[in-house]
Parts: sequence; C-alpha cells; structure tokens
Amino acid sequence: MVKIKLATEADTEVLALLGRITWDESHGHYIEDKNNLIKYLNENFSIAKTKENINNQKNFFYVMYVDKLPVGYAKLIVNAEQERIDSKNNCRLERIFILDDFIPLKIGHQLLTYVEERARELKLDTMWLTVYIKNIRAIKFYERNQYIHIGELNFSVSGKEYENIILSKKI
Ligand SMILES: CC(C)(COP(=O)(O)OP(=O)(O)OC[C@H]1O[C@@H](n2cnc3c(N)ncnc32)[C@H](O)[C@@H]1OP(=O)(O)O)[C@@H](O)C(=O)NCCC(=O)NCCS
Repeated sequence: MVKIKLATEADTEVLALLGRITWDESHGHYIEDKNNLIKYLNENFSIAKTKENINNQKNFFYVMYVDKLPVGYAKLIVNAEQERIDSKNNCRLERIFILDDFIPLKIGHQLLTYVEERARELKLDTMWLTVYIKNIRAIKFYERNQYIHIGELNFSVSGKEYENIILSKKI
C-alpha cells in the first residue's frame, strides 16, 4: 500500500539517507570526479543540513512509503525566485526521487500529483523545476505531466557545470 506524508524533524535520518542514496543512484554515474561526488553527497545530505532544510519554513518535504517502507520523497520550496517565472505565488519542485528498486512500481506520478495538490492548498499557482538534459526518463515524466520548457540553468557540482533545463506548469 502506498502512503505519502509531510515530513517533520523526526524524519531527518530517513530523509538524509533517502536523499543521499537516490541522488547517487540517479546522478552519481555522470559526475566524473568521484571525490566531487562524495563531497557533494556529504555536504548536501548530512544530518545537520537535512534538519536545517526541514525546519526552513519555505520547504515542504513529502515522504512516500510502500508497505510502510520509505521509498521516495519530494521537496517543495515555496516562493523560490526564478526570473523566468512571473507569478509571485510560485513554488519549486527541487527534488522528486524514488529509490531505483521501486521505480518499476511507476509511483512517481502519484507523488507528483500529491505535491501539486498540496501546493494548490498553499494557494500557489505555478510550479517550476530544473532537470539535467540527459535525464531523459525524468524529462519524459514531466512532459507527460504537462510541464513546459521555459529556459536553461546550469547546475554546479564542486565547480563543474551541468546543463539543466527549466520546466514549469500552471497548477
Ligand atoms: C522521475 C521519477 C520520479 C518519475 O517517476 P516514475 O514512477 O518513473 O514515473 P511514472 O509514475 O510516470 O511511471 C512511469 C511509467 O509509467 C508509464 N506511464 C505513465 N503515465 C502513462 C500514461 N499516461 N500512459 C502510458 N504510460 C504511462 C510510463 O511510460 C513509464 O513506464 P515505463 O517505465 O515502462 O516506460 C522517477 O523515475 C525517479 O525517481 N527517477 C530517479 C530520480 C530522478 O531522476 N528524479 C528527477 C530529478 S529532476
């Protein structure tokens, strides 16, 4: 059975580990310098950083469970600045990640729909996100869900730039 819930500080360890493993699984292979990869993972998914992120009032983390096992999560940032977005009531879907083992369940759509519903409840009207140009599965996923290409933005890992595109949707 699939369940999704809003994370609190009590979920810090689960989110830190889920965040680290899913990022490594989906992006780790194209970061050429493995020391940079480890540095990125250590810096971004530490307990301290994750706790700080959860407690930031602009952030909402949603954890997805399958038979009570945490298998994925999404991170929403309210009013995240983006010059290509006109709406003041925007939000950024900064992360949506499911563990590799559970991707065959095809549950990403359910998580995305849930986050869009919560965003509408928060009176937000536009969701935007960035995705690596070579992440074809994710790009197709967003396109299937009516996200539209509105620009480009580079993503930096330890000083090396990776080409991302910006997608957005009126929710
Ligand atoms: C991106 C991600 C969240 C998408 O979740 P998902 O579960 O793969 O997506 P969906 O729920 O849409 O399910 C995908 C499958 O359902 C199928 N599907 C979904 N909607 C469909 C529809 N309307 N009609 C037909 N098939 C459909 C897709 O074709 C796909 O099947 P396939 O794998 O056999 O091609 C997930 O793949 C993931 O976590 N990836 C790794 C992390 C990542 O890249 N995150 C994004 C970073 S920007």
